[in-house]
Amino acid sequence: MKQRDWKAEAIKQWNADPCGADRTTTFGTPEFFAHIDHKRYVEYAPWLPQVVGFDRYAEKRLLEIGVGLGADYISFARAGARCFGIDLTPVHIEATRRRLLLEHYPVRLTRGDAESLPFADQCMDAVYSFGVLHHTPDTRGAIQEIFRVLRPGGEAIVGLYHWGSAFYLQTVLVRGLLRGGFFRYGYRRTMSQIEQREHSDAIPLVKVYSRREARRLFSGFGKIQIEARHFGYSNSRFAVIRKLAKRYSEVLDLAFGWYLIVRARKPPLETGGRKTGRHPGVSRICSAGFLSISRSCGIRGFYDTGFSPERLRPSLPLAARVKMILSATKAQILKT
Ligand SMILES: C[S@@+](CC[C@H](N)C(=O)[O-])C[C@H]1O[C@@H](n2cnc3c(N)ncnc32)[C@H](O)[C@@H]1O
Repeated sequence: MKQRDWKAEAIKQWNADPCGADRTTTFGTPEFFAHIDHKRYVEYAPWLPQVVGFDRYAEKRLLEIGVGLGADYISFARAGARCFGIDLTPVHIEATRRRLLLEHYPVRLTRGDAESLPFADQCMDAVYSFGVLHHTPDTRGAIQEIFRVLRPGGEAIVGLYHWGSAFYLQTVLVRGLLRGGFFRYGYRRTMSQIEQREHSDAIPLVKVYSRREARRLFSGFGKIQIEARHFGYSNSRFAVIRKLAKRYSEVLDLAFGWYLIVRARKPPLETGGRKTGRHPGVSRICSAGFLSISRSCGIRGFYDTGFSPERLRPSLPLAARVKMILSATKAQILKT
């Protein structure tokens, strides 16, 4: 089966329906942005500012991946961070640019891909990405890119959709099974319908992660904390659910929230060197070996899978490097 171009689908999706946009105000005006912020921080995710802690990043060089309409980006900028941002979707970059100009903040935005960040190694103090990396095909590769651009001791803050959430369970049971979405459209198309899709027939990629999978994705990092947030349902049409959701919101959020918020720290140099730099040569030798075997057999090289031995940095733990080789090998086998 032909592989769908998920990145093209993402661009189609969010160009047509910018994330959280308000159609009652004019695009790019102060009212437009005020409405977005109200919806985000008052109605949808009042927990977000406190959990992210925008003001903890004052004076830091912070990269946001997938800036969307710039609500979080400008919150970091207002709190004094030196912000950089990328997004695949041109409309999102344009909206964030206008928002920054309105408030006279410098515009350091690039249209770019999370899977190959246009930044030098170790140049960021923090990398933030909320609601983005589950939409890109190579989430692991994107997280390795975050690792690469972070300075030793730098912090990643990443929000991913949660497999163990009430919302995912509801989507599977109601949308997928009871309403027959899985049988009529298949899993991927049904999942894509949870995104607001009014003005296009795009099929954005939607993946979900368990805590364990999320921890594995960040296995190259040192300290990792994961908490779930956003149980939702405080506006449910069923009074009982509304009441329960409000009364026990804290507990329900932490157990069944729709977002997993991962905070992971890149090991500082001293521990990084000792813990992770023991066998820098082994994985490179293996990958070079695989590369030459695949070439001499006339099958497509690792580079076709987006893998390159340069990504096997000595600062990554050996286990993470071996995993990278194994997953590239698997991708290679599936491709050939
Ligand atoms: C659901 S929106 C979230 C936007 C914003 N972070 C927010 O919370 O409102 C998903 C965003 O991810 C971006 N995106 C998806 N795949 C991407 C990739 N590979 N590289 C960069 N941005 C990507 C989309 O363009 C879109 O802006």
